[in-house]
Amino acid sequence: MRTIGVFDSGVGGVSVLKEVIKEFPYDNIIYFGDSLHAPYGDREIEEIRALCLKVSDFLVYEKQVDAIVIACNTATGAAMNIMKDRYKIPVVGVVDNGVNEGIRATKNKNIGVIATPATIKMDIYLKEFNKLDKNLNIYQVKCPLFVGMIEKGWIDNEESNELIKNYLNNLPQNVDTLILGCTHYPLIEKYIKRYFSGTVVDPAKETAKSLKIIIGEGDRKEKSHIEFFVSGDSQKFKEVAQEFLGTTIDKVEKTIL
Ligand code: DGL
Repeated sequence: MRTIGVFDSGVGGVSVLKEVIKEFPYDNIIYFGDSLHAPYGDREIEEIRALCLKVSDFLVYEKQVDAIVIACNTATGAAMNIMKDRYKIPVVGVVDNGVNEGIRATKNKNIGVIATPATIKMDIYLKEFNKLDKNLNIYQVKCPLFVGMIEKGWIDNEESNELIKNYLNNLPQNVDTLILGCTHYPLIEKYIKRYFSGTVVDPAKETAKSLKIIIGEGDRKEKSHIEFFVSGDSQKFKEVAQEFLGTTIDKVEKTIL
């Protein structure tokens, strides 16, 4: 039976995990949340790359996964190319999938991207969009406080709503499509939608589908399972992940790499 490794800087990658579970019901999944080091998005690119390789080496060499889903935009930008060279297994990231969906969704070619400071600094969305269509207007806004607040368990109050409103106010009015360029943001999508009435794109679905195109469907003989590992607060991870996934997680193992 195959095992798919999914990782993120913390709990945000469960937005991608949810879709991976749907696409691969007959494969084992190992999720790693590097919450001890979250947010990745505030770190230097070299540092993010080194953290990602520690996690992916754990998945590949210790857990012997058959494919990796980088369920983090920041990690995709910092480490996907290196990981593709380093391992013999398929590695998929979130950014190109978000871009494809964004292009399909926009009607007026004005696209907003909200993401971590590191993702914006690397211009990964901008470069990927430009590769496919030079006539798009891409507006990028960094949202440095979101990841930390989501890791702690988002509180829907006046202050957090004000923060969303202020970040989104940096986008021009004519933006008709908004890319959630950080996998943590789908966890607060319903709150973001209060202040953005256009199409909101979450790259997760497309990412899981892109892996299915590469590795196909798993075999249906045995019952599959999901294992969770986190480097930080496992109880908090469990609470936030359970709420988003809508299921009970039996065990989250604390593992510092
Ligand atoms: N979920 C990660 C992403 O998609 C957040 C990175 C962070 O920890 O800042 O970018």
